[in-house]
Amino acid sequence: MLALLATRQEVPACMPEEAVVSLSPEFGAGFSGSAGVQIHRGGTQWSVYSQIQSVSIEENNRLSIVSRCRGTEIELTHRLGLDCDSDVLSASTELCNIGDSRLSVEQCNAPSIPVPLDYNKILGFQGRWANEFQLQPVDRFMGTYLRENRSGRTSHDSFPGVIIHTEQTNEGSGAAYGLHLGWSGNHRIRIDEQFVGRSYAQLGELFFPGELSLDPNQSYCSPVLYGATTNNGLSALSRCFHRYVRSHLTDARMAGKAKLVHFNTWEAMYFDLTPMRLQALADSAAEVGAERFVLDDGWFKNRKSDCAGLGDWTVDKTVFPDGLGSLIDYVHAKDMEFGLWIEPEMVNPNSELYRAHPDWVLSAPPAPLILSRNQLVLDLTRTEVQDYLFNCIDVLLNQYPIAYLKWDMNRVINQPGNANGRAVTHYQTLALYELLSRVRAAHPKVEIESCSSGGGRADFGILGYTDRIWPSDSNDALDRLTIQKGFSMFFPAELMGAHVGPKDCHITGRSISIATRTGVALFGDMGIEANLLEMDNEEKGVLTEAVALHKQHRQLIHNGDLVRLDTSKRENSFGIIAANQQEAIFSYALLNSPATTTMGRLRFRGLDEHTLYKLTIVWPSPASSIPSSSSSSILDVINGSVVSGEALMNVGLQLPIMQPTSLLVFHLTS
Ligand code: GLA
Repeated sequence: MLALLATRQEVPACMPEEAVVSLSPEFGAGFSGSAGVQIHRGGTQWSVYSQIQSVSIEENNRLSIVSRCRGTEIELTHRLGLDCDSDVLSASTELCNIGDSRLSVEQCNAPSIPVPLDYNKILGFQGRWANEFQLQPVDRFMGTYLRENRSGRTSHDSFPGVIIHTEQTNEGSGAAYGLHLGWSGNHRIRIDEQFVGRSYAQLGELFFPGELSLDPNQSYCSPVLYGATTNNGLSALSRCFHRYVRSHLTDARMAGKAKLVHFNTWEAMYFDLTPMRLQALADSAAEVGAERFVLDDGWFKNRKSDCAGLGDWTVDKTVFPDGLGSLIDYVHAKDMEFGLWIEPEMVNPNSELYRAHPDWVLSAPPAPLILSRNQLVLDLTRTEVQDYLFNCIDVLLNQYPIAYLKWDMNRVINQPGNANGRAVTHYQTLALYELLSRVRAAHPKVEIESCSSGGGRADFGILGYTDRIWPSDSNDALDRLTIQKGFSMFFPAELMGAHVGPKDCHITGRSISIATRTGVALFGDMGIEANLLEMDNEEKGVLTEAVALHKQHRQLIHNGDLVRLDTSKRENSFGIIAANQQEAIFSYALLNSPATTTMGRLRFRGLDEHTLYKLTIVWPSPASSIPSSSSSSILDVINGSVVSGEALMNVGLQLPIMQPTSLLVFHLTS
């Protein structure tokens, strides 16, 4: 029936029949777009034309299609899985060299996805350090939408995900596809609209020249493409991915475990660490309710600035003469777990490691080595480098009761050549996964955070090995609202590190109230990253209340269903609703001055029409601290009242007069 419906008519001056957009469209079949698999053997055997050999359906809705091309001597296995609970498709392409000579591989994308022509809006991502996950809406056009990443990590600027939707689609309704490549290395995303009147999306790994070739019988498997489709708007699309992450990518050892509130030392102390000040910070962190104390950069040998030390993973005895033991004991005595920052993939030329093994770094001679943040990238594909790094981490984790690692990666890999002169980003990425899995296998209780100068390594691939993502180095609460919104397109709240920064943001210089800073951080895996020793008592009081509020509602925030509300550009609003719709928490933030004297209505979504909800304003506390008009505030009237889901969603709540950069959090219970 589908084939019948796809019948096309010959058009003058065109091919009588166009090659289909198959899972890997083929040059041999006459495909004039981007062939899914692009290979050759010394310039010949390039034209793939394969025949299906077998189709097998396995348990859990998994389908494998094996096809072979006699001409190029390759075998392709397309694996497709559909997860019934989340509706997420996972799809990969495996390529095996069944010839007897070496096969050069230029491209082997995950299965291609035909895109309906009326899905003509592309919602991609752009970004930079400290401003990641910015949505980039583009009208699809005839030609190629192409995003390429050669940064050797997932990247700040080209998150490997894209949403394709119709003109009518918004957060609450309309059709959309969401596609994401679970890969932490180089990638390419393309959406082609062909003049023949069709469109397709292709996501796959991007190789440097000569990077991938296969010996006889050797295989390459593309990263997994994750896809979902909905007719119910972008929030529904995100919920598919959130459910999938929760059921398939969140490690079993995290099941049911509460995400602890962090205190992180970075913006509090930078490299200026002393045991006394750390202890004082631990005192304050415990007072405000932190449950984990993370010692960030600066604790290891010679690390007084970012100019030295990376590679030498032993404790700096000038700062900690007796090691980290007494600080950890102190932190434990305050009822907090201890976490530690590391950046294993890197080396500073000013380090013992580099002096001993200058040949261990990636390079691209004759070009001089390019330093970034004064550091070079270790070649993880060398066994001795892997072993050295594993051993350093293993020793630390054996020596100290460290419950958590913040695993950082602070530069792009723009000279990804190994000692033999080959580009190795593909193998470097696999070697990183291997190192992480060795660490997890040896220390299964240790949680690991994926950080890469903020959100440079956020993808479903790294989630196979890590438990939290640091989405951005910017703790500016206003910028965070946008960053967190973009992040939420594919990732659920519990994976999202969200820290309360200092009053004057270190990155933007913007000064934001403690009520708003905390109100924004409430909705992730909350943390604190400010110098508590300089915070006045009033701010500390608000922070303490916010941490308590987060703990009270984190079960909901970390398990519920997200709805983002369609708002004007001056606003940001979303809610998280319990699966049974009997409880919800909503945030409404006013970013800029309102256009009108009276604010609009907040129309909730995702509630049950027939349920009566008690509506409580839980933040800021007390609600009356919101500067309001001279008459009494709508908040005083509405707080604690009971309203039906139907009225909250269809009529909406009159918002109070608010100042820009303030926010409100509503809690609803049936
Ligand atoms: C990166 C991280 C920060 C911090 C510093 C330490 O920039 O993103 O959170 O850990 O490194 O050098």
